[in-house]
Amino acid sequence: MPKILEIVKILKSKKNILDIILVRGWVKTRRDSKLGISFISIHDGSCLNSLQIIAKKKNIKNYSNEILKLNSGCSIEVLGTVVKSIGKKQKYEVLAKKIKVLGLVKNPEKYPISSKNHTLEYLREVAHLRPRTNIIGAITRIRNTVSYAIHRFMYEKGFYWISTPIISTSDAEGAGKTFLIYTEYLKNQKISYSKTKFFGKKTFLTVSGQLNAESYACALSKVYTFGPTFRAENSNTTRHLSELWMVEPEMAFIDLKKIIHFSEKMLKYIFQFVLLERYEDLKFLSRKNSSIITRIENFINTKMKVIEYSDAIEILNQEKKYSNFLWGQDLSIEQEKFLSNEYFNSIVAIKNYPKSIKAFYMRINKDKKTVSSFDIITPEIGEIIGGSQREERLKFLDKRIKECKLKKEEYWWYRDLRKYGTVPHSGFGMGLERLVCFITGMKNVRDTIPFPRSRNQAEF
Ligand code: 4AD
Ligand code: MG
Repeated sequence: MPKILEIVKILKSKKNILDIILVRGWVKTRRDSKLGISFISIHDGSCLNSLQIIAKKKNIKNYSNEILKLNSGCSIEVLGTVVKSIGKKQKYEVLAKKIKVLGLVKNPEKYPISSKNHTLEYLREVAHLRPRTNIIGAITRIRNTVSYAIHRFMYEKGFYWISTPIISTSDAEGAGKTFLIYTEYLKNQKISYSKTKFFGKKTFLTVSGQLNAESYACALSKVYTFGPTFRAENSNTTRHLSELWMVEPEMAFIDLKKIIHFSEKMLKYIFQFVLLERYEDLKFLSRKNSSIITRIENFINTKMKVIEYSDAIEILNQEKKYSNFLWGQDLSIEQEKFLSNEYFNSIVAIKNYPKSIKAFYMRINKDKKTVSSFDIITPEIGEIIGGSQREERLKFLDKRIKECKLKKEEYWWYRDLRKYGTVPHSGFGMGLERLVCFITGMKNVRDTIPFPRSRNQAEF
């Protein structure tokens, strides 16, 4: 029985393997020489590079009737020997003994992902086939490495990963961007919405696992959630998805300063891990955006800049294009980009925002006007992290619940955490798709999640 090898194992092999192996994948290109030799390059997703298969007419039985019909997208299984490549492009190639065609591309002219360059916009329309392209393959591998790095970092730091509910009863952010849940079966009986409440109360798809994470942090000290969250964003932007993946660490006995420091350490760990594990993919993506590697290296090697919201306002007002920016206003994406791209030319954290533009659970500062909050903003994609120290004092929390016109009864269990052994605690949420955008240089979050969901888009 020959060894079954993935392409990455063959290409990265240290010894001069000459064994008989079995390799499988999809054809990228085929080129034939006049001497009855075909050069077929195949990919299997295990790495960026494809593997060259040499098929000689004299050795391959189905050469004329099948091999010469292979084109981009066909799937094949190759039995052959790994040999050192004569060509300079790759170290090894496979000299085929047998090639089994697993699946042909019936109408090559109709194959949506032919080998020519496609725009990212076009690729979104064929999201079921786009993972076969180099670019989406590279992004997929990087996204996986980022997720693994996050779990690894958390584990090393003694955090427990907890699953917070996807079916939720409170709009943690209070932004009213929730998707309501009802059952089809009850709806079909044409009864009013109030009776379609399967759970006996209003439920949504969660916008954040934070409130539940706080409950566990106030018992296990260090926890995090990492899962899908949902936002009914009514706008079509390059930064908003309806379904996004969020990492939310929550720590007891930690204040704003420490949580900001922690977020910096986490980002540095992720960047370092991606550089180490996915350099080839990064290098490939840097052909499209040459700064991606240097900017993550620079971030690793420098201390993250942390500024006050008030300082941000001052900087923006000094710049003529943003004159008359009033204290209390939220920063627009253009302003965030200006600060991060042009002014600081790096990732920056902004802290202590006015309470009026932030959620009810953030700890009120001594000035009574601002809350212990922070956002981390990056060049191009803007905010990637939003977090805060939580209001652990019941009196202040109740006041904020009232100010924000929320229903106190709905937060009974959240308030309980402040009644029974309350402690200072802090946390943040980081959007995986935006982080992957920053790392890969992609400009649209829809290219960093396999099947993006957004307003009027739920195909596939
Ligand atoms: O700033 P946000 O809304 O914070 C929260 O939800 C807090 N409850 C998190 C916490 O403290 N545990 O969202 C956090 C991050 C944003 O910085 C952004 O990266 C991402 O989630 N995000 C989105 N990403 C893509 N599409 C959207 N619609 C997003 N909304 C938020
Ligand atoms: Mg935010």
